[in-house]
Amino acid sequence: MCGIIGYSGPRKTSPLLLEGLRRLEYRGYDSAGIAVGREGRSDNSLGIVKAVGKIAALKAAMPADLDGAWGIGHTRWATHGGVTLANAHPHTDCSGKIAVVHNGIIENHMSLKAMLEKKGCVFVSETDTEVIPQLIAHYYKGNLLEAVRAAVQSLRGTYGIACIHADEPGRIVGARNGSPLVVGVGAGEMFLASDVTAMVAYTNKVVYLNDGEIVDITQDSYSIIDRDENRVDKKVDEVTWELGSIEKGDFPCYMEKEIFEQPESIARAISGRLDVENSTAKLGGLNLERRHLSGIGRVRIIAAGTSWHAGLVGAHLLEHVARIPAQSELASEIRYRNPVVERDSLWFTVSQSGETADSLYAMREIQRKGATVLGICNVVGSTIARESDGGIYVHSGPEIAVASTKAFTSQLAAFYLFTLLVARMKDMSRDEGISFLSTLQSVPDLVRRTLAQRDKVQAMAKKYHKAKDFLFLGRGILYPIALEGALKLKEISYIHAEGCSAGEMKHGPIALVSPEVPSVFLVSDDYLREKTISNIREIKARGGPVIAVGVEGDDETKSLVDDFIPVPKSDSRFYPFTMVIPLQLFAYFCALELGRDVDQPRNLAKSVTVE
Ligand code: G6P
Repeated sequence: MCGIIGYSGPRKTSPLLLEGLRRLEYRGYDSAGIAVGREGRSDNSLGIVKAVGKIAALKAAMPADLDGAWGIGHTRWATHGGVTLANAHPHTDCSGKIAVVHNGIIENHMSLKAMLEKKGCVFVSETDTEVIPQLIAHYYKGNLLEAVRAAVQSLRGTYGIACIHADEPGRIVGARNGSPLVVGVGAGEMFLASDVTAMVAYTNKVVYLNDGEIVDITQDSYSIIDRDENRVDKKVDEVTWELGSIEKGDFPCYMEKEIFEQPESIARAISGRLDVENSTAKLGGLNLERRHLSGIGRVRIIAAGTSWHAGLVGAHLLEHVARIPAQSELASEIRYRNPVVERDSLWFTVSQSGETADSLYAMREIQRKGATVLGICNVVGSTIARESDGGIYVHSGPEIAVASTKAFTSQLAAFYLFTLLVARMKDMSRDEGISFLSTLQSVPDLVRRTLAQRDKVQAMAKKYHKAKDFLFLGRGILYPIALEGALKLKEISYIHAEGCSAGEMKHGPIALVSPEVPSVFLVSDDYLREKTISNIREIKARGGPVIAVGVEGDDETKSLVDDFIPVPKSDSRFYPFTMVIPLQLFAYFCALELGRDVDQPRNLAKSVTVE
């Protein structure tokens, strides 16, 4: 949530900050702003421009002559204070010499504000952030680093901040506690950002800050100190993302690109991780001894949003295939529940971004209680990836659209690999392993064939997009896919949708059924098929329109429903990969029909770094 960028170097600062913010826009798009240092002006004042709305609005508001030698920028997802110009970042102290951009929440801002007001500070916004520049000014005695160091000691809550002072040319001071911050190391230029997408066009050398660390940046150098004021020498990591991977290419929007990338992204998640000879999986990043793996008594999964749905599929699969009890729970619930952490449990945190605040804090709490927590993350070097005890990178490549699609199917792939690994340590035979492994290998192709239903799904969206409510129903391993289908539709089309277990339908959701409320059923060809078909008949008997995503050749279901989208026949345990595809496409095309901003839906942000 909220994107931050800072730059010190010879390039034109304002356009560079704007470009960086454009790439960070998915982190929030309520308002945006930049502050640049302009050494040499008679008053040394900072140049500040802000605009309500997206980066395009900021660009339009930018005076042609606004440039400086160093600066900071911000794109906001509002927490404290409405979406107004006064609340847009950067915020300054009373003198206007210090500017700060901030991601996070300062919990004690009210008491700090009262203290500062008594000392004569005048506040102009309703934000929690404004106390930061005022506090820095309070401590400032000619050295920005010293002032920031003193100020952050009084802050309670979460922050990733970047600060500049008009009288200290080229200097940017950043501090992190709970919100991500990355230094980009260039040749004769330095960057600071909330994530690497902002600077990948200029450098692939990055240094990730940890909580409690403060970085002091100039055009040619950076130095980091920790909470105890010790200098920290950190490894410089290399980012392997290519610029092309964060561009839309020929697609009209990122979401469509990401949906259609899934055959390749799933293949990347699986690549190099199958041991065909032993019909098992190889997961080198787990950092677990074979003995530890074979002794797992229970798997517990924590996550949010779409990642939680991937966890629900993973839990079902682990129990069904590997015969290990498993649960997937919402990180925002478990972190406040004082959960029982059994000695033989293995925990997973699933997170595309690796920065979701609830997932991160839940993971830390579970680790504090002594458990091993593995991460299933997409963003390399993200906080969850670094702080987990090991894990599986899903290698989806950058996911830019706010609604997650390709990361979801890659998270599924990670769970299928892990399940194969542990199942083969238990009762799964070599033959069963070979069959599971070869179906997993065929998933990219199954997904490619399902994507060919594109036009049919688009026609369906044209037919149904005016409906105000939808039900999504599935059973067993497809129940989480029903939840995911409903979430996708809600997120990007703003149509109300409820995902339910088809077995629960008669306990409430069926009361919603009417000719105006379509139901989307997921129909497998396994032992639950007949039960699901009975549920479809119950809806039809009450006049409700039914769309089914079912298996190629299932003529009975096809004849029963109003619209039928087939997926290729396969081992039924693998239908989550294929059946989610028409639901992603359906949400996408409904959103297009309704004229929604597909990549940046209202009120949402991709990376939820505040609770
Ligand atoms: C936000 C995004 C979702 C995502 C969820 C969890 O709500 O809009 O697309 O599923 O966060 O994010 P994570 O990065 O932890 O997977």
